[in-house]
Amino acid sequence: MDAVLRGHRALVTGASSGIGADVARCLARRGAALVLTARRADRLEALAAELRAAHGVTVDVVALDLAAPGAAARLWAAATASAPVDLLINNAGFGHFRPFASVDAARDAEMIQLNVTALVELCHHLIAAIPAGRPGWIMNVASIAAWQAAPNFATYGASKAFVRSFSEALHYEVRGRGIKVHCLCPGGTHTEFHAIAGAGDYGAIARASMLPAAVVAEKGVRAMLRGKKTLVTGVLNKLACFFTGLSPRWLSSRASMFILGAPRAAALPARATGGAPERTEHTAP
Ligand SMILES: NC(=O)c1ccc[n+]([C@@H]2O[C@H](COP(=O)([O-])OP(=O)(O)OC[C@H]3O[C@@H](n4cnc5c(N)ncnc54)[C@H](OP(=O)(O)O)[C@@H]3O)[C@@H](O)[C@H]2O)c1
Repeated sequence: MDAVLRGHRALVTGASSGIGADVARCLARRGAALVLTARRADRLEALAAELRAAHGVTVDVVALDLAAPGAAARLWAAATASAPVDLLINNAGFGHFRPFASVDAARDAEMIQLNVTALVELCHHLIAAIPAGRPGWIMNVASIAAWQAAPNFATYGASKAFVRSFSEALHYEVRGRGIKVHCLCPGGTHTEFHAIAGAGDYGAIARASMLPAAVVAEKGVRAMLRGKKTLVTGVLNKLACFFTGLSPRWLSSRASMFILGAPRAAALPARATGGAPERTEHTAP
């Protein structure tokens, strides 16, 4: 594979697992230096070692809780302390598959902080940092949940609708400056997302459309580099989004409820993710 990103440096949020870890692999294969961030430092260090050995790229690690107040600013400062960043992957996120009334308000606030507020703030930092005439890239990870209101994923779906609308607007605003903003909209993808959301036992159609994270990541990176505004991954998901666009909103919301099936009655996992250290921050060369 051509080292088309040699000389560029990417910040990847949510790089400790799933789509984010595989996006980091895709970027390293193309020669990009990397800054990996999430809360689980051990996972980040293991991925950093893998990528340095496989591709000879420089990889830094910043372990922090991006849903904490002020975290996006601290992340940007840490990520750019030794070298500039010109490629941003806003991937960290979580959801919960539950009726709204059974979800703790603090957990919803944490989700909005991570899925929306930190993402917007990091876009501000990246765009402000790209000098005139220099290229830059942003990939914001939304979801096909951005296409319609998603009962039992109410706050999560709304956060992803925000990400899609925001990213598509930004795409047109900054493309004249040479900054490519891409919105990746995965459908169901095999990652830890579903266990953390207290989900995974969706209906048969939702299960049939699931893709591996490596496939979703590679498609997203290719689309971002080509300057594509939005990508929905998977044929079934593309068809679903196409017909959703043609349907009245009441119908698409009811269809979403049917396809996802009923949420479990059991309580959500105690944390948004398992075993993550709280607000540890460090960098490693
Ligand atoms: N999987 C799907 O079916 C699917 C479908 C559509 C969209 N998406 C979106 O894809 C993105 C990646 O999710 P995934 O499927 O790859 O799930 P995942 O394997 O659970 O990855 C989520 C990542 O976000 C990080 N993260 C979570 N909370 C964080 C916090 N407070 N601070 C910093 N990092 C945090 C996690 O790391 P730590 O726990 O180590 O902090 C992890 O690296 C998300 O935005 C998700 O909404 C997923």
